[in-house]
Amino acid sequence: MNTEAHTELEQGGERFRPQWHFSPEKHWINDPNGLVWFEGEYHLFFQYNPFGDQWGHMSWGHAVSADLLHWQELPVAIPEDERVSIFSGSVVVDQHNSSGFGDDTDAVLVAIYTGCKRVPEGGQAQELAYSLDRGRSWTKYAANPVLDIGLRDFRDPKVFWHGPTARWVMAVVRPDDHVVSFYGSHNLREWQHLSDFGPAGEVGGIWECPDLIEFPSSTNADDGVAAHSRWVLKVDTFAGHPGGTGAQVFVGRFDGTRFIQDSVADEAARTTGMWADHGSDFYAAIAWGNLPAHHAAPVWIGWMNNHGYAKRTPTSPWRGAMSVPRELFLRETPAGTRVGQRPLRALQGLRGEPLQWPTHTLQAGETLVDLGEVDGRSLEIEWSVTTATASEFGLQVRSGPGEATLIGVCRRRGMLFIDRQHSGFVPHAERWAGRREVALEDPQGPITLRVLVDRCSVEVLTGDGAAVLTELVFPADASRALRLYALSGEVQGRLTVWPMAATR
Ligand code: FRU
Repeated sequence: MNTEAHTELEQGGERFRPQWHFSPEKHWINDPNGLVWFEGEYHLFFQYNPFGDQWGHMSWGHAVSADLLHWQELPVAIPEDERVSIFSGSVVVDQHNSSGFGDDTDAVLVAIYTGCKRVPEGGQAQELAYSLDRGRSWTKYAANPVLDIGLRDFRDPKVFWHGPTARWVMAVVRPDDHVVSFYGSHNLREWQHLSDFGPAGEVGGIWECPDLIEFPSSTNADDGVAAHSRWVLKVDTFAGHPGGTGAQVFVGRFDGTRFIQDSVADEAARTTGMWADHGSDFYAAIAWGNLPAHHAAPVWIGWMNNHGYAKRTPTSPWRGAMSVPRELFLRETPAGTRVGQRPLRALQGLRGEPLQWPTHTLQAGETLVDLGEVDGRSLEIEWSVTTATASEFGLQVRSGPGEATLIGVCRRRGMLFIDRQHSGFVPHAERWAGRREVALEDPQGPITLRVLVDRCSVEVLTGDGAAVLTELVFPADASRALRLYALSGEVQGRLTVWPMAATR
């Protein structure tokens, strides 16, 4: 490790610690696992190395929350054993004890995960563990594995209850084949193959961590029959995303056996709608299961990192964090149905007293925003631009001598971008460099930019939820300024900045 990186690491333990995103007290994390709501608690399990700040000894770490914002970390839930490491998977509430693991009076939590054999030749298969005490202790099923097709790579089962066919359905990947396989079961212990989806979309890298998410449609008032739900199939790819690794989404329907993708008019429309997040640091997202009725929309969370440099981020003894929880919705566009995202509504509860700049006109050049006492390392920013003649405009966050992270709208090219080339410390130049961008549906129209800045992350969303970019940044601690800028022309808009309360 070079000296610069070493110094960053020493200082970076707590100074990059997210204040309102989940991170573990210590050690390495990657994918969120087993997201489920049960008896008043949201559970967040995660890929965890209980022994260090690099990937290894994969086990399920555990945290619980009453509101998806304040997390209490609990002891390791499912540890690696002599036979297998515990890779990614999901948890279901087995309400009626279909698995037989419960005692017929209380619901049982069942974890379905990939056991990865701890021998040089590897081998992955789906396994079970169950909990009768609200996820505090877990018993591995004695007859594991429950689904083994003899492959070296076969992983990341996401299981949910499918009402119309009255059975459990599992989405699981065959990474090298770029295939999501669906299996069905009545007891979580015996599984029948239902169908396969793929190869499709981006196949430049292996596929990982599928999720199949239902968007129930409202009941048709005329005949009282519920119209077909829409479904989104998400699968991550290890290469091919502009930032390296990323999440691709397919919109379609699921008939209980197979996922049928909507036909997409042309290849350009297919590819622009493909990425859930156009930034480099949103991976392995899955949605919460069993959400209480007050949630009108599915909610997911992703690992805010990238396998390309995750092991070199300058933090210790903890390494890795999650994105903010995001609500998902479907948007109809001329190019087809797209997935929209917005930060969990309850996140607004963390906002402090807003700083407001009502209607203002910004001339070409840079304007320093006077944040007063507000800490520029932890902000939510909303800039609603109503009109602009500028060819490009945007914000600089975590700005200080010689560095800033740029968020801009290039109207000439019709792109929203984030640029961290001068954002501070770079963990791995090759994978870090470059501007991440996404095409805007209406580049000349009004636009609202919502920007979430925590100690080492920037999440950018458009107000309509159409575009999202998530990037890690490691600036100097003193780089806390916020600037607006416009190039060759002016911008009119309204700006609101909230300090964000810490949840830890
Ligand atoms: C994705 C992933 C999964 C696997 C887990 C292992 O980040 O590679 O496919 O189950 O991490 O930690």
